[in-house]
Amino acid sequence: MARRWRLAFFLAILSGSIFAFSGPVDAQPMSRAQARERANMLAALGAELFSDPQLSNSGKSACASCHDPAHAFAPANALSVQLGGRDLAYPGLRAVPSLKYLQAVPQFTEHYFESEDEADESVDNGPTGGLTWDGRADSARAQARIPLLSPFEMGNASPDEVVRHALDGGYGPKLAAIYGKSLLANRNATFEAVLKALEVYQQSWQTFYPYSSKYDAWLAGKVELTPEEEHGRKLFEDPEKGNCASCHFSVRANDGTPPQFTDYGMIALAVPRNPAIPANADPAFYDLGLCGPLRTNFLGRPDYCGLFRTPTLRNVATRRAFFHNGVFHTLKDAVAFYATRDTDPGRWYPRRADGSVEIYDDLPARYRDNINMDPPFGGKQGDAPRLDDGEIDAIVTFLNTLTDGWKAR
Ligand code: HEC
Ligand code: HEC
Repeated sequence: MARRWRLAFFLAILSGSIFAFSGPVDAQPMSRAQARERANMLAALGAELFSDPQLSNSGKSACASCHDPAHAFAPANALSVQLGGRDLAYPGLRAVPSLKYLQAVPQFTEHYFESEDEADESVDNGPTGGLTWDGRADSARAQARIPLLSPFEMGNASPDEVVRHALDGGYGPKLAAIYGKSLLANRNATFEAVLKALEVYQQSWQTFYPYSSKYDAWLAGKVELTPEEEHGRKLFEDPEKGNCASCHFSVRANDGTPPQFTDYGMIALAVPRNPAIPANADPAFYDLGLCGPLRTNFLGRPDYCGLFRTPTLRNVATRRAFFHNGVFHTLKDAVAFYATRDTDPGRWYPRRADGSVEIYDDLPARYRDNINMDPPFGGKQGDAPRLDDGEIDAIVTFLNTLTDGWKAR
C-alpha cells in the first residue's frame, strides 16, 4: 500500500495526475512532456464531465450532484441516501462517501498483509480495500461505470447512452483532441475514454489529496494543537480508550507517508438499521456489505456478512450522514455510538413490544459472530462506557482538525 501510494504521489507531483500514460485506443510511446500534456487535458475534461448533468438519463444528475466539490466531494444535504435515476425519483441504498483520499486505497484482496513500511508484515488482516463501501470496484475507472449505469444514480441504460449524451453535450472535439478522431468511430473506446477522464480528474492531488488540514500542519511541526484537540488525539490513539487509531491510522507510516486515517479493512460494526432508507421498509432486505446483495461474488460467505470498508476520517467533520447507511447525522452521535453500542444499546437500537432492545437490528442473528468487539466496543449493558461525554466531545474536536483547507491565522 505505501509503495503504491509513494508511486502515485510522485507521479502526481510530476504530472498533476497519474496513470495517464496510455489511452484507451492508441498506446503509442510518448515523451514525458506529451504524457503530462495529455494528463492535464484529460483531467480538465474529467472535471467538466464530473459536473455535467447532461451525462445522466434525467439530464439532471451529475457526479457532482452527489459528490459536491464544495463539501469534500460528499453531498451538500444531510439525507441518508440521495435520489437519482429517471426523474430523480429513485433513492439509493447507501450514504455517499467523500471522494477525497481514495488514491491510496489498495485493490481489494481477501488476505491483506501490510508492507514492512507500515507494520508487522506477517499478520493476515483479512478482506481489505477496493472502492465503494463493499470494495467491489478496483479502479476509479471501473467505479465510474457504476453510477453512470445505475438505475438509482445516473440512470443510463447502456454505455452507448452515455456516449450519446457525451457527444450531444459537445465533448466529441475534446475527446478527439486527446485521442484522435478515430476514437469517435468506436463507441466502446469512447465510453472508456469518458471513464478514463473521470478517473484522471479524481487523481489530481491538489483537489483530491492536498493534505492541507490543521493535523497535517501539526505533523509538519508548523502549529500546536489546542489542549482540547490534543486531549482528543490521545483518546483517539489510546488502545484502552477510543482505540480509533487501530483502524483509522493516525501516524505516519515508517517510510514517512502521511496517515490516511484508515487501514482499508472490512469490518462489521453493526450500526443500527436506518428506517430513512426506503429499501429497508422490506423487513427481508438487508445490506450486508461484502456478502451482498450489491456485491455479488461472496453471496455464499456468511463470515463476510455485515462487513464494510473502513473509510478515511479526513474531512469527516464536513459530512452530514455517517456510516454506510447514513444512519447518524452528527459526528457526536457517530463517536458516541462506538462508546455505548454495547453498554447502552437502548440508546441506538429500537425496542420490541415487550420493551427489550433489538440490539444489532440491521444484521440477522446468524451473522453476529462477525461483529467487531474490540475496544471501545464490548462490555455489558449498564457497564461504564470507555469514553464519557466529555471525552467524546474531545474526540469530535480532534476530528475537526482533519478538515482540508486549514490556514494559519
Ligand atoms: C445519486 C448519487 C450519486 C451520483 C450521481 C454519483 N455517485 Fe459516486 N457514489 C454514490 C454512492 C451512494 C456511493 C457508495 C456506493 C456503494 O458503496 O455501493 C458512491 C461511491 C463512489 C466512489 C467510491 C468511493 C469510495 O469510498 O470507495 C467513487 C470513486 C464515486 N462514487 C465516483 C463517482 C463518479 C465519478 C460519478 C459520476 C460518473 C458518481 N460517483 C456519481 C453516489 C453517487
Ligand atoms: C475495528 C475497526 C474500527 C475502529 C476501532 C474504529 N472504527 Fe470507525 N469505522 C470503521 C468502519 C469499518 C467504519 C464503516 C462501518 C460502516 O459504515 O458500517 C467506520 C466508520 C467511522 C465513521 C463514519 C465515517 C463516514 O464517513 O461515514 C466515523 C465518524 C468513525 N468511524 C470514527 C471512529 C472513531 C472516533 C473511533 C474511535 C472511538 C473509531 N471510528 C474506531 C472501523 C473502525
